[in-house]
Amino acid sequence: MTPTSTGSLSPVDGDIVVPEASDSFVTTSYIKGIAERALSYLHAGYPVHLAGPSGTGKTTLAYHLAALWGQPVTLIHGNDEFEVSDLIGTNDAGYRRSKVVDNYIHSVLRTEEEMRQVWVDDRLTTACRNGDTLIYDEFNRSRPEANNVLLSVLSEGILNLPGLRTAGEGYLDVADSFRAIFTSNPEEYAGTHKTQDALLDRMITIRLNPPDRNTELAIIKSKSGLDERESAHIVDIVRELRGNGENKSQPTLRAGIAIAKVLANGCGKARAGDQLFHHICYDVLSMETAKVRHDGHSVYHELVDGVISKVCPPKSPGRGKLRSAPKPKPEDLAEAGAAMQAKQPGALGAAPLAAGESKR
Ligand SMILES: Nc1ncnc2c1ncn2[C@@H]1O[C@H](COP(=O)(O)OP(=O)(O)OP(=O)(O)O)[C@@H](O)[C@H]1O
Ligand SMILES: [Mg+2]
Repeated sequence: MTPTSTGSLSPVDGDIVVPEASDSFVTTSYIKGIAERALSYLHAGYPVHLAGPSGTGKTTLAYHLAALWGQPVTLIHGNDEFEVSDLIGTNDAGYRRSKVVDNYIHSVLRTEEEMRQVWVDDRLTTACRNGDTLIYDEFNRSRPEANNVLLSVLSEGILNLPGLRTAGEGYLDVADSFRAIFTSNPEEYAGTHKTQDALLDRMITIRLNPPDRNTELAIIKSKSGLDERESAHIVDIVRELRGNGENKSQPTLRAGIAIAKVLANGCGKARAGDQLFHHICYDVLSMETAKVRHDGHSVYHELVDGVISKVCPPKSPGRGKLRSAPKPKPEDLAEAGAAMQAKQPGALGAAPLAAGESKR
């Protein structure tokens, strides 16, 4: 089991993992609301499907939900090359060879060879048999034909095992505690498949979008250790670019986390004019390389520069250093008063307005 960025799953036996609460997981009212809804669906016996664009926290939330649910977890990552057998298991050709030695007649040696079909459960079958929580991450990267086997699992609680039919075990009753959490990316993403309506109809889908600013800020701070002010600048830059119609690359949570982690390492400050910061932003945020003007300037770089200047303008040299004017001496005041009297009769008080003059 590969360690995850959330660190919330630890391996016990092969594909089975035990969920653990992760310190770096951020809970805000936005996340709490989604988690509570998802748990209520699981309690009611329904599979939960977290759907949404890349980097919206689907996988992280799926692990978190599994940790809250508390059962052992079986993890599957969607794969275009999956066959049904990659989910349920297969009949492996088992080969056995044995020697029989006759103790009385030592010259007699008989060798027995046997080929046998041995059924080996794969992860879906294990999860259904044991009543685990199945996390099927990016399930729509697998072809719909492979995922068809889930239809009877999710509606009738029966897993069809055609390979065991001859042994009289062609069907497996899914354990009551079995639950499934799915994640998926939008259909238009490269490498994803359209999901059969019948499968979607058997799960409750929660659509995730980039989280609210408060959640995004909390995640970036927690993942990078950067201070509140700098983190907030990064969040605002990322969110501004995300909302910009000209920008097709739509930076995700990951982009903000990456910039914050680099800055937390002592590289650059989040402010306009810090050349290193500008370049880090170009590198992390820009996925679109094609748009270069004839003079060689990248349109995207200009867009990023503009947003940086708007969100965290450079410090003006005099800012914060306003020196108080020196106290005037009494003789200077008298001199100034005399000069004003000469210029404006009735001075030192407010000059009366002439007819038709307004204060504007
Ligand atoms: N609640 C959270 N607490 C801490 N970190 C989070 C949280 N939600 C998301 N993240 C972080 O945000 C990043 C993106 O999250 P995640 O990988 O879960 O997104 P995703 O929607 O599964 O993306 P993809 O579709 O590309 O797989 C990760 O670095 C993850 O650790
Ligand atoms: Mg994911």
